[in-house]
Amino acid sequence: MKLFTILGALASLAFAEAFYLPGVAPTSYAKGANVTLLVNHLTPSLSDNNAKTYVYSYDYYYKRFHFCEPAGGPKKQSESLGLIIFGDRIFDSPFELSMLKNETCKQLCLGTYSKTDAVFVNRAIKSGYKHNWLIDGLPAANVYHDKRTDTQFYGVGFDLGYVDDDEVPHLYNHYDIMVEYHERGPDEFRVVGVTVDAKSMKRDAGSCPADAEPVKFLSSGDTTVNFSYSVTFVPSSTAWATRWDKYLHVYDPKIQWFSLINFSLIVLCLLIIISHILVRTLKSDISKYNEVDIDDDVQDETGWKLVHGDVFRPPPQRMVFSVLIGSGVQLFLMTVITLFFALFGLLSPSNRGSLGTIMFLFYAVFGAVGAFTSGYIYKFFGGENWKLNLILSPVLVPGVLFGAFVLLNFFLINAQSSGAVPFTTMLVIVAVWFVVSVPASVVGSLYALKRPVLATPVRTNQIPRQIPVQPWYLRTIPISLISGIFPFGSIAVEMYFIFSSLWFNKIYYMFGFLFFCFVLMVVTCSLMAVLMIYYSLCFENYHWQWRAMSIGGACAVYIFIHSLFLTKFSLGGFTSFVLYIGYSSMISVLVFLACGSVGFLASLTFIKLIYAQIKID
Ligand SMILES: *[C@@H]1O[C@H](CO)[C@@H](O)[C@H](O)[C@H]1NC(C)=O
Ligand SMILES: *[C@@H]1O[C@H](CO)[C@@H](O)[C@H](O)[C@H]1NC(C)=O
Ligand SMILES: *[C@@H]1O[C@H](CO)[C@@H](O)[C@H](O)[C@H]1NC(C)=O
Repeated sequence: MKLFTILGALASLAFAEAFYLPGVAPTSYAKGANVTLLVNHLTPSLSDNNAKTYVYSYDYYYKRFHFCEPAGGPKKQSESLGLIIFGDRIFDSPFELSMLKNETCKQLCLGTYSKTDAVFVNRAIKSGYKHNWLIDGLPAANVYHDKRTDTQFYGVGFDLGYVDDDEVPHLYNHYDIMVEYHERGPDEFRVVGVTVDAKSMKRDAGSCPADAEPVKFLSSGDTTVNFSYSVTFVPSSTAWATRWDKYLHVYDPKIQWFSLINFSLIVLCLLIIISHILVRTLKSDISKYNEVDIDDDVQDETGWKLVHGDVFRPPPQRMVFSVLIGSGVQLFLMTVITLFFALFGLLSPSNRGSLGTIMFLFYAVFGAVGAFTSGYIYKFFGGENWKLNLILSPVLVPGVLFGAFVLLNFFLINAQSSGAVPFTTMLVIVAVWFVVSVPASVVGSLYALKRPVLATPVRTNQIPRQIPVQPWYLRTIPISLISGIFPFGSIAVEMYFIFSSLWFNKIYYMFGFLFFCFVLMVVTCSLMAVLMIYYSLCFENYHWQWRAMSIGGACAVYIFIHSLFLTKFSLGGFTSFVLYIGYSSMISVLVFLACGSVGFLASLTFIKLIYAQIKID
């Protein structure tokens, strides 16, 4: 247990260091200065009662919520590309806050809900939609208490309403906003914490009695709700630099570390055993083969050496294969670089949206490497139609992705969700792709064309060898499914957190963990692919290229299945279902491509290595 404490301390130190880079400058407010409160979209949450889970968000000012608007109508705040893609929609608000000025029961407006609106809002309350407000870049939070560690922490966002014991939903219509400030110098105050305690109270405008009955929507006719808020400014000793710490709460750090270390130990042992066996078998294989060659009287009957004349035979569909591998490499590099940036804190939660922007830009730029790999592999397989390869490399995978994205966007538009990406953003994405990705990709392809063909250690025979009947477990699907479990296992611990940050607006910040898991996953993918390809070759099956890809990428299947389980099968409505399945399959396909190309490249290196060792007469 000591070990975990030390590791945990180290990690938190690394994170604390990592989070606050220059770039996000602190704002100091004078006494009485306006403190702007911005409102972001309303996001769903994974409901813990048996209500349905929805996966799309709404604009704060979506008409059916009837929330109060600022005078002159809400104004949209400018956002980075990443924020838009990831669904943030930030507007200004009618709340008026001045530094150090406490307010009690300020009236906002009246909201009138028709019967259908009431049904809609009730449904949103039941499925756990949350407000997401921002003050000085800090999300308004709910205070929670962690019983295990006996600490307080902030959960981002606060509920739209609550459901009482009789399953009746009540809308919160009064907000007690508490702003924590840190006095930095004379008349210099900084916001270091924002919490909102929302209440539901049925009352007359102008008063906020603590014992008021909760708001309940009438089952017939319109319901009028009076909105109001109070503000208190409380001093805090938290410095600006550490203001995010309370938000980044790990429920039980020990469990995380424990499962991670546990699993990585298992994987490591496995890997060591596998590599040990592999190296030993190979060594004896190679020396045996080479001896046999010298003696020249015994014919070697089985084993991987027999297929030396076929192992570099191009796979079927070499064009598609090389393009997929190229795209996989592109995705893989994007992931590595993004994780690297995240690790050094450039993508901290205070830099909202930078993650999305960086990922997108790197994806576009790495089109060059992707196209190079695609062209190089294609040439290696003896492909002649390099022009088609040049065109397909930047078009095939990004095109399919973009198509799926546009299609799913229609579902979002149809659900009137705020998550729908506006047409102008779509145009920006297409423009970036044309201006950055396509030229980069063409450069990569042309460079691949200029490079000499990758040399093979053995020559390929004219006539393909017949492949003997294979045992069932060495067929591509069973072998892939078996091998996929291990890389999936290394990333499984993090899946829940990635999932809640993707769908339910939770802050993801354990990039250290993620990086470690990712490395583990890549290593496992490559080793599994190498091992299984070695076995296949021993059974004289030289169709290894597609197989190596599918063995490497098979963890994507488990990622998909796991994501289905994470929703506990309680998705609300057809749109949620389509969106969830759609995005989950998109993510799984991308993981498949990235890990698949890792598997292929590892196997290619391995095969080149072992066939270079044997003597062929
Ligand atoms: C603060 O907000 C009030 C009300 O919106 C406005 O009248 C005033 O001009 C603002 N003051 C500053 C310094 O921006
Ligand atoms: C809101 O306030 C008005 C008076 O201004 C009152 O008539 C009405 O009942 C109140 N509604 C609710 C839901 O509290
Ligand atoms: C505002 O209210 C809080 C909590 O009641 C109190 O601690 C603080 O001193 C008040 N601030 C001012 C300026 O009155």
